[in-house]
Amino acid sequence: MAYRTFTVPRNIYYGPGALQSLTTVGGQRALIVTDPGVRAQGLVAKVEQICAAGNIKTAVFDKVEPDPSKETSWAVFALAQEFKPDLFIGLGGGSSIDAGKTAWILYEHPDLANLSFMEFLREASRRELRKKARYVAISTTSGTGSEVTSAAVVTDRSVNPPYKAGFGSRHLVPDVAIADPELAASMPPVVTANSGYDALVHATECYALTQPSDMVDALAIWSARTIFEWLPRAYSQGSDMQARDKMHLAALQAGIAFSNGRLGMVHGMAHVLGATFGIPHGRANAFMLCPCFAFLYPAYKARLNSLAGFLGASGRDDHSLINNLLTDLDNLKKKVGIPLAIKDSGLDKKRFDEMLEPISVDYFNQLSRSPVNSRMSIEERRKAGVPVTVDEVRGLFLHAWNGTRAELK
Ligand SMILES: [Fe+2]
Repeated sequence: MAYRTFTVPRNIYYGPGALQSLTTVGGQRALIVTDPGVRAQGLVAKVEQICAAGNIKTAVFDKVEPDPSKETSWAVFALAQEFKPDLFIGLGGGSSIDAGKTAWILYEHPDLANLSFMEFLREASRRELRKKARYVAISTTSGTGSEVTSAAVVTDRSVNPPYKAGFGSRHLVPDVAIADPELAASMPPVVTANSGYDALVHATECYALTQPSDMVDALAIWSARTIFEWLPRAYSQGSDMQARDKMHLAALQAGIAFSNGRLGMVHGMAHVLGATFGIPHGRANAFMLCPCFAFLYPAYKARLNSLAGFLGASGRDDHSLINNLLTDLDNLKKKVGIPLAIKDSGLDKKRFDEMLEPISVDYFNQLSRSPVNSRMSIEERRKAGVPVTVDEVRGLFLHAWNGTRAELK
């Protein structure tokens, strides 16, 4: 049996008041990477104050947009070259933390800045970090898990449809993660729902697709159960600090799980929906989850059956067990105001119809050029639950549009 690796931040500070731990992380010059919303909430001022108390000089980049483009990370990199930080502080949801991670790689290895986007993605995953700066990630949403993960997402908008690319390496796991639920307490209900559902997809997709591992499974199952129990309350009673605390830590745990396990086509297809139609990431995942699980069922039967059991579903046979699990997953969406179908989310049908073919071809090509898939025969891909035709991909997007799923095979 082969051994495995499990990588986490050196320190994780969590619970109400954890932001104060920032005084203990060391460093002299911190570059804070954040977005205008976080700035408007007064959180940048709070972080600056704590840094000043610890004699840490600060500079701020506060223009990170949702699904940040590569240009944004390159702009953070330009500021870093001027300011010369020994600490990056990613402050926000996944977008800010990921833009900071991408800029951090560029700052450590400026030669990567001149590569093509595809070459950058390949090379960035290989380079060691921490010669110039360390990374502190402070999450203000309960979903992405980026504060503890080896992954970052960056979008290339120079191509059509835009290419939302995930990349990563264990070097990219932040040195310090701070998960203070007080910072997430002001999330509006819709953000609580979308980001919380993203965390649920991290936990469940990771559990379904990852080789059994007591380290990963423990965190994936615990976080999924916690989200089922607490997300509705965090959504409907945002000032309930216990619910906020439960969700903030569950999202972090799900992040550790998938960072040390893996995600797959739910996230892959959700990234396409996000990049093309601007659907928020967690909501796009919610749309893809049940169609993809139904598609993946033959290849991941044992893991999906076991997931259903852990999440309290029951059934007279395997198919009814999984159908009940998928119904439970849909019911959670209803409880937190997430539509079951893209068509009910306000997206224009004409726009979806126009883009259906290009996004289906695009995602199929992404799958086909992945190093693992490209080595497999058609039959091996079929067995592994990887779509083997553009038709299959199109069918999954259509199920997500209609809020349906294929019959289990
Ligand atoms: Fe995600």
